Amino acid sequence: MYTLSEIDSIVERNIIHLPLNGEPQELYDPLKYMLSLGGKRVRPRLCLAIYSLFKDNLDANVIYPAIALEIFHSFTLIHDDIMDKADVRRNNPTVHKKWGENIAILSGDVMFIKAYQLLEKSKPEHLLPLLNLFSKTAADVCEGQQFDMNYETMPLITIEEYINMIALKTGALIACAAKMGAIMAGVDNKKADLFYQFGRKIGIAFQITDDYLDTYGDYKLFGKKIGGDIVMNKKSWLLVESFRVSDGEQKRRLRSALAMSGDDQAKIDTMKALYDEMQIKQRAEKEIERYYNEAIESLKDVELNEAQMAIMIDFANKITYRTR
Ligand code: IPE
Ligand code: IPE
Ligand code: MG
Ligand code: MG
Ligand code: MG
Repeated sequence: MYTLSEIDSIVERNIIHLPLNGEPQELYDPLKYMLSLGGKRVRPRLCLAIYSLFKDNLDANVIYPAIALEIFHSFTLIHDDIMDKADVRRNNPTVHKKWGENIAILSGDVMFIKAYQLLEKSKPEHLLPLLNLFSKTAADVCEGQQFDMNYETMPLITIEEYINMIALKTGALIACAAKMGAIMAGVDNKKADLFYQFGRKIGIAFQITDDYLDTYGDYKLFGKKIGGDIVMNKKSWLLVESFRVSDGEQKRRLRSALAMSGDDQAKIDTMKALYDEMQIKQRAEKEIERYYNEAIESLKDVELNEAQMAIMIDFANKITYRTR
């Protein structure tokens, strides 16, 4: 078993040394840019951490498929930033701001293909199950992203609709990362599915935390605009919950805040004041903890020993209780 910090450095070292040059440069520069800006590397780290619970040889045929997850993720972020009109990511200008939308679309496409080329490096006996899982996941992410956009213009969605949307756009890839680690370690199907459930739940906690930090985070640490979700009328956990708990008068004020446009900061301040009135921040903290606990709970039947469980808990803690 590797320690989490050993896994972190293996992921980082291998990402830095990926051969990413190609012509024309305009196509490959955004890819190099995105990977050079860092990011938490949550998905490859999770994949390798789970693999290493069972196996001690972290070879190229395991590391490259794990890195495929990061390339795919970074691609989804480039396209997401176009859709969300975001100017800053990982503390730097977004790809479409720097190079324009056309380059952002096409370099995203080539990253998606690169991800498959890295998956091809897995052991032949794992290739088909990994491809099946990865392709299903990629479609899930698209579905979640489309729900996310559809919901921008809907006045109201339920918590169930919200959870389904984030389970697709974010939970699916984290779940896929977890299951890929289990598959490559040769774990049986039933247990691999429990790792998938773990990843899905921790992924839901992860997205609620992302929504939370979008309003309550520190710009320097979070690396993205604070209040972006409010400006875009995103149906974030905060907004959905505030509609759920508000009285008639508060609902009317929420609707009028949603209708504000022109002065972004005024809109953000108005919405935050409403959230404060309803203790949305504290409610979100509770909900994150609930999904965190459910995630850990789903590992019960995997029958991990103490050392293995400690790694999973450490990892779950680090990605759930975060500031960036
Ligand atoms: C951002 O993902 C998008 C979400 C799914 C919340 P991350 O928070 O993993 O972003 P990076 O890779 O660390 O920048
Ligand atoms: C994006 O969710 C999830 C993806 C599948 C890319 P967000 O739109 O909340 O992610 P950020 O906040 O821009 O990173
Ligand atoms: Mg988005
Ligand atoms: Mg976004
Ligand atoms: Mg977000």
